Amino acid sequence: MFDKGIYIRRRATLIERMASCAPEGKRGIAIFIGNADAPAQYRDNAYAFRQDSTWLYYFGIDLQGYAAIIDLDSAGQTIYADDVDIDDVIWSGPQPSVRSIAESVGVPCSAPAAAFDEAVRAAAAKGREVHFIPPSRYYNTLRLRNLSLDPSKSSLSLVKAIISMRLVKEDVEIEQMDDACDIGYRMHSLGRSLVKVGAREQDIAGAMDGYTIQKGWGVSFPTILTQHGETLHLHGHTGIVVPGRLMLIDAGAENNMHYPSDFTRTYPTGGKFTKKQRDIYEIVCRANEAAFSLTKPGVAYRDVHLAVEKILLEGLRDLGLVRGNLDDMVDCGICGMFMPHGLGHNIGLDVHDMEDLGENLVGYDPDQKRAPRMGLGSLRMARRLVPGNVISDEPGIYFIPALIGKWKEEGTGRDFVNYAALEDYYDFGGIRLEDDVLVTADGARRLGHERLPIFPDDVEAAMAAD
Ligand code: GLY
Ligand code: MN
Repeated sequence: MFDKGIYIRRRATLIERMASCAPEGKRGIAIFIGNADAPAQYRDNAYAFRQDSTWLYYFGIDLQGYAAIIDLDSAGQTIYADDVDIDDVIWSGPQPSVRSIAESVGVPCSAPAAAFDEAVRAAAAKGREVHFIPPSRYYNTLRLRNLSLDPSKSSLSLVKAIISMRLVKEDVEIEQMDDACDIGYRMHSLGRSLVKVGAREQDIAGAMDGYTIQKGWGVSFPTILTQHGETLHLHGHTGIVVPGRLMLIDAGAENNMHYPSDFTRTYPTGGKFTKKQRDIYEIVCRANEAAFSLTKPGVAYRDVHLAVEKILLEGLRDLGLVRGNLDDMVDCGICGMFMPHGLGHNIGLDVHDMEDLGENLVGYDPDQKRAPRMGLGSLRMARRLVPGNVISDEPGIYFIPALIGKWKEEGTGRDFVNYAALEDYYDFGGIRLEDDVLVTADGARRLGHERLPIFPDDVEAAMAAD
């Protein structure tokens, strides 16, 4: 938990930002529901507890079954939860009182859990606005329904106020993210050292995941470790490492304060790139570097994505896989066939930060519209950058036979795409290279104290030394 002053200040800022939404006396209440245990099979056998990120941001308490109300008119704040009883003490051990836990994050009032429902109902009965965020779990959906609130009618003003705060990371958060990236660096280094022909993917992924539990809360998302990188989010690890392929590892660690890292590297399974692999790898590497050098305040990340599309297409054109004018290809969305995802997303308390609050609200400025086309349409962070933003820089090139076949059959991009040459790439796989980047006052900095080897010679040298 951070120092309590941080939570006090954040809640005061939230109240201030909400004040512009309505005159005094009409602002209503903002309610926050922390997560409860989620049973895997039965109640007492639950998934590892992960607190709601918005709750963590404003209240910091990493315990099950908490809720809170902020009165936006009086600035009064109350935390609701039940003190542990003798059964809880027997099975789970003693706990400080709810009152002292509330005080530890600067909330002076606390009350039993049941009083939360009563207070929300009483406010609604008086015609006061009840602001809440979209629930990210069924438990919270049910809690809202039980309060006669429609979970689909979350408060846009509250969501926007929260996004405006969480998008700009504070120094204490950046320290945590550097820490998470350091764990991620070592997690990935361990994984790379185990990529040897004949190894089981499950052993590599298991060692990496285990490391994150040793050093922090665990993985920040299910580890992607695959010799079929052309499938963007393949979570199975049932293969054996075979020679001549590319092993894509997209994985991250969440530290004990719940800040994540999210890195991707792609390795030649035998330790040396073939010429064909290196040619494609160098294009992606160039795009990753270029995106980083373009990242600075005032620049729209949408434009960085478009610059990356151009770099990828130029490299593919040099190899004879596409042909024509680069701007025309970008306009026609040709890059979407090779990189169907966006260049990056926000990272914060969530690895895809705040996407539970609405992907477009988080990732797009009010005057930006999400494009319908493949690739750019999947861009999760398009905004004009400001210092304190943390984003992923993750270009990729993938050869997805089903997608290439579909475009070919439909005649999509027939003026630009060399479908005959692409036939040689059907078993290539995919390459993605991802760093986590902080926007600074005058540019950008990659998070973490060390950077995973990324240039092809460095990757080969590291694999030889592993
Ligand atoms: N690293 C997984 C993702 O960004 O979607
Ligand atoms: Mn990512």
